[in-house]
Amino acid sequence: MITLHATEATLAEGKAPLKVVWVRKGELTPQGEVLDAHLGGFLRRAMAEAGFKGEAGESLLLASSEGSFLLFGLDEDIRATGGRLAQTLSKLAFPEVLVEALEAYPLAEGLLLGAYRFDRYKEKKEDKALALQLSGAKPEELDRAKKVAEGVFWARDLVNEPPNVLTPEALAEAALSLRALGIEVEVLDEEAIRALGMGAFLAVAQGSENPPRFLHLRYAPEGARERLDLVGKGLTFDSGGYSLKPTESMATMKGDMAGGAAVLGALKSAALLGLPVEIRGYIAACENMVSGRAYRLGDVLKTFAGKTVEVMNTDAEGRLTLADALAYAERQGAKRILELSTLTGSAVVALGEEVAALFATQEAWGKRVEEAARKAGEKVWPLPLEKAYREKLKSLVADMKNVGDQYGGAITAALFLSEFVTVPLVHLDIAGPAFAKKAHVLGPEGGTGFGVRTVLEVAQGLTEAA
Ligand code: BES
Ligand code: ZN
Ligand code: ZN
Repeated sequence: MITLHATEATLAEGKAPLKVVWVRKGELTPQGEVLDAHLGGFLRRAMAEAGFKGEAGESLLLASSEGSFLLFGLDEDIRATGGRLAQTLSKLAFPEVLVEALEAYPLAEGLLLGAYRFDRYKEKKEDKALALQLSGAKPEELDRAKKVAEGVFWARDLVNEPPNVLTPEALAEAALSLRALGIEVEVLDEEAIRALGMGAFLAVAQGSENPPRFLHLRYAPEGARERLDLVGKGLTFDSGGYSLKPTESMATMKGDMAGGAAVLGALKSAALLGLPVEIRGYIAACENMVSGRAYRLGDVLKTFAGKTVEVMNTDAEGRLTLADALAYAERQGAKRILELSTLTGSAVVALGEEVAALFATQEAWGKRVEEAARKAGEKVWPLPLEKAYREKLKSLVADMKNVGDQYGGAITAALFLSEFVTVPLVHLDIAGPAFAKKAHVLGPEGGTGFGVRTVLEVAQGLTEAA
């Protein structure tokens, strides 16, 4: 566990058993130069001897009678530098470290995110306590980074929890914990979901022994003038149903609620930060399983919005649950909706594992989210809601079917969703970036919490001149 503390002491003045000294293209920062002067040129000599230039993330640990020093290569991306530094420090055993803050906010965010671990189910925990003093940081900047990281960590935890633990009911329990932060949480059980007429959501859920839950959350701070409605995919496990997934594809499908986790994480951070925006969250939580009660190919479902859907692939279940959640959000008075879902493998084929696909039914709303993602340091890229492909969703017996053909799968999925709302919708297909298959600069393999930071930037943006 890393804790961050603001200090006004410079590198030369501060006392800590380890001091981090930034290096960029072989140069020290002005603070580093002052420190080096105090040390009689020790740092520069050591750099020259080792031929250390300070490539991004490259480090050199030095010990002297004045203490230890870690020369560390700066990346242009300060957030990434923070992540790399956190990982390097986690391998060393210093309880206290002094580092020059530079741009304190992104550095702090990177440090916190990069230090994340999920070891709840490990007998041996490796977590060492590390207090980081950030020279020149403002306490408010660190406070904000901590509150954002808390939401991201929660989203990661929820994704990383195994599916036998994180059932739809457990996800609802997790959501209920937000009441402690003043967030209203309403949990609808199967009977209530049926009474509402969410036939598409219920069809996906019906194959499981674990009953579904529909979550409606409301963070409504006093004086909020803008409103943001979030919808997150909440499949706590996606086996594919009768259109069963092969083992390798199914292995990470506990993460098919990552969109929902991002919604919960963002709500948590928003409440901690006290963002002056009303934020609603909707999550249709269920499992997609195989059983004698499971939905079949050929079934025709009646959605909450009234449209009927013919099931042609039970693995295209996310759009069915989301169709009902989106229509419900609109019925609750949403003015604009941001929806996040691990929706299609096609989005991963198109953009790879690090970039989310962004679809917008209204350009202005799409641009806002794109801009927010850029600020948040989360990668998204627009794909078109190409109307010409709508015909791929035509059904002989129902208003539409739930899959297109083998081409443009991310687009047909987005087109399907867009049929269920009239207010501006941004759909983020986060199938790639929600779950890391290997460790990265901002965290280990597993849930990434992708989307939390973008949602927070969007909400923040709404508070600033509309
Ligand atoms: N949950 C999956 C999408 C997914 C794939 C998420 C890879 C994360 C990583 C979704 O429910 C799904 O199975 N989609 C199908 C749609 C197809 C049947 C039209 C897919 O992408 O193959
Ligand atoms: Zn699926
Ligand atoms: Zn799915």
